[in-house]
Formats: sequence, C-alpha cells, structure tokens
Amino acid sequence: MELIGKEEIQEVMEVLQAGYLFRYGVSLGKEVDPRFKGKVYQCEREVAQYCGVKYGVAVNSGTSAILTALCGLGIGPGDEVIVPGFTFIASISSIVYCGAIPRLAEIDRTFNLDPADVKAKITPQTKAIMVVHMMGNPARLNELKAIADEHKIALIEDCAQAFGASYFGKPVGSIGTVGAFSFNVYKTITSGDGGMTVTDDEQLYQRCFAFHDQGHSPMRTGVEIGKRPFFGLDFRFTEIQAAILLAQLRKIGTIQTRLRASKKRYKEIIGDLPGIEFRELPDPDGDLATMLSVILPNAEIAQKLAVDLNTKVVSAAGWHVYNNMEQLMELRTANGVSFPFSGFQHYSPQGAEVRYWKGMLPKTDALLGRSLNISIGVRDPGLSSGFGVTINDDMATVEKHAAHFRAAAAKYLK
Ligand SMILES: Cc1ncc(COP(=O)(O)O)c(C=O)c1O
Repeated sequence: MELIGKEEIQEVMEVLQAGYLFRYGVSLGKEVDPRFKGKVYQCEREVAQYCGVKYGVAVNSGTSAILTALCGLGIGPGDEVIVPGFTFIASISSIVYCGAIPRLAEIDRTFNLDPADVKAKITPQTKAIMVVHMMGNPARLNELKAIADEHKIALIEDCAQAFGASYFGKPVGSIGTVGAFSFNVYKTITSGDGGMTVTDDEQLYQRCFAFHDQGHSPMRTGVEIGKRPFFGLDFRFTEIQAAILLAQLRKIGTIQTRLRASKKRYKEIIGDLPGIEFRELPDPDGDLATMLSVILPNAEIAQKLAVDLNTKVVSAAGWHVYNNMEQLMELRTANGVSFPFSGFQHYSPQGAEVRYWKGMLPKTDALLGRSLNISIGVRDPGLSSGFGVTINDDMATVEKHAAHFRAAAAKYLK
C-alpha cells in the first residue's frame, strides 16, 4: 500500500480511457476492440511467469484463490485437509466451504507446518496438505512434498503472505500441486483486494478457471451456452484491479531488497542479546523478510516485554491462532447445520469425528506464547504486526527502532 504511486495511476487511467472494466472486454459475436487492454489476462501470465508455472487464474481475493484451488482439485464432503493451527482463518474456512474437514496440525520453529505432526495426522480420508507460508517465510517444503507424494495427495501452498518468497531458488506457489496468493492491502503487492491460483497442471487450471467463472473454460469472449463441466461461481478479477497489480508487480524487486536489508540490520542490532532466538528459516535466502519473529526464553519474559513495548505476544495476536477462532472452536457454520463436522459419514463411512478445542496444539501454543513479531513491512496496528517499522522507513529509523527493542529486552535478558 505504501508504494502506490504514479505507475498505478497510469495503469488505471489506461483502463478507464479504453472503457473496458470486465476481464473479457467484449460480448459474444463482436470483434475484439483493439482498445481493450486484456489486463487480467496479462496479469495471469505475468504472475504465472514470475512463479515459474504455466497457469494463473486471477480471482477477487486470497480466500477465493484457496477455495478455487480446493474445488479445482475436487476436494469435498468426506475429505480431510491438513492445515496448520497458526494461519489466517481463510485457510480453514475455505476447506469448510468446500465441504471438507480441516484437520489442524502443529507448527515448528519455522512457525509453519511441522512435517512430523503432518505425518501423524494423515488418515485414509486426507486428500491434501495445505501448507501456509506464514509471514513471508517458506515452510519445510521438501519434507512436506515428500509426505504428499508418498501418500499420493495434493500439496496446496497458501502463499497469501509470501508473494516474492522462494525456496532454494524456486518461487513459492510453484512447488506444490497448486498455489494461492492474496493481494489484499496487507500483502507484498496489492490491488486493494485480489488473489491468484497458480499451477503447472493444465487440467487443474481448466477446472480452477471453470470454478472461478460459472463453469466456463478459459479464453471465452462472452456468454457461452452449454459445455460447462460443473457449477462454478463468480470470483472474477476486474481490469482495474489487474491494472493496479501489474504496476505493483514491477515493484517486487524493490520491495524484496528493502525488506531484506531492513530485517538484516534489525537482526544484527538485537541478535547478540543473551537468550534471544529467532524463527528458523529453512532457506534464509528465500525469506521475504516481512516480519522478524523473536523467540524469548519463556512466556513470562515474552509477556512482560510485550507490555513494555505496547504490543502482544503472538499467541494473543488475534485471528491467526486457532485458539482465537471462535467459529472453529464452536463449529459455527453460516446455515447452523453442523456439516461438514458431522454428517460426513454419508460420504465417508470410515471417517472419524474431528473436534477442536483450545490447547489442542500444545507445541504451537508454547512457541507462540513466548514469541513476539516485529514488523519489517506489514503494518496492522491493533495486531502485534503493528509493532515495528514499515517499508518506507529509512535505515536510521530501522536502527532506532531496533535499539529501542534492544534496550527494552535487555532488562529481561541477562
Ligand atoms: C495465510 C492467509 N491465507 C489466506 C488469506 C486470505 O486472503 P484474502 O484476505 O485476500 O481473502 C490471508 C489474508 O489475510 C492469509 O494471511
């Protein structure tokens, strides 16, 4: 958001002057007007190319991108999807909305899925592992992909918080079966709201495209009659959103460079405090560096320091921790019917009941209870991510902030 400028304005003006706001531009039977810019198509091509995959389907949010991926894979009633207990609610709600059961797994010191717990949570009903690259840091993808391959199930990458991150040279989203990005205002690049489902699999792409647009096949140029393989919905992206995103996409290199430089400096300044630890980065070069996660020696110190700094420990930081998701704890569905949490036996007689309760992931709770997040480029005042610096802060400001953290933490770390 901080980097929206004349480039985005110019892209948007092009669309307004051309007069086509809809991704298809023209109605059936009419000639393609040369003024139509086709920015949604361009965006899909450029994001897919950036990720090193063949296909992208632009949608109206990250939530839609995940739901599109799940429905593209044909996941539904009776199926289970493994998902971390530390994620945004959308990873879980999209599983619920396709009629499948979210099965929560622990995170490890990467703050992402713990492969050992994923193994333990696999059942004959498991159809996918949804790995979430939280706060710009890729998960242990080698291990998770090996588990998915061994069980012949899909690996879905929720990359909502990680556009621009990579794993040993490969962009996130290109390693699993399918990836999903968000372009809402808190994300690396933004179109206000928006998302993208990416994959290398042509058949899956066709299905994802159909799901996001009433069952239609890619490249339609208007209202088609018939030949739609299944019910879809309408999650289409608009030419205006695509215009903004194209301008943002060209800034990704600058964003990465600034974030990584600020995080490196911040870490240098606080790194030698006795007893301080940092989140594990499976591939330090691929970390996007949107956040610096600090692990304190125990929950008491973390809590005291959080109060002193007017922030929160990660476990208390709201929506991103399963314990704080009341919809999940109380199985609150929109229609009041308990499906998919009950009644799934009709589709999967062998499936076992899944219930959720506070404290069910002790390893996750212990880790998040003694951790603090320092923002490097994500500002969300009110959540713990409000504490820190922003992408527009210069190095002197970063150093000052880090010195402030250091002085506060030094009181407890001796
Ligand atoms: C991990 C994760 N998944 C999914 C989403 C959903 O994205 P959106 O808000 O664009 O629907 C978000 C966004 O906050 C997220 O952080």
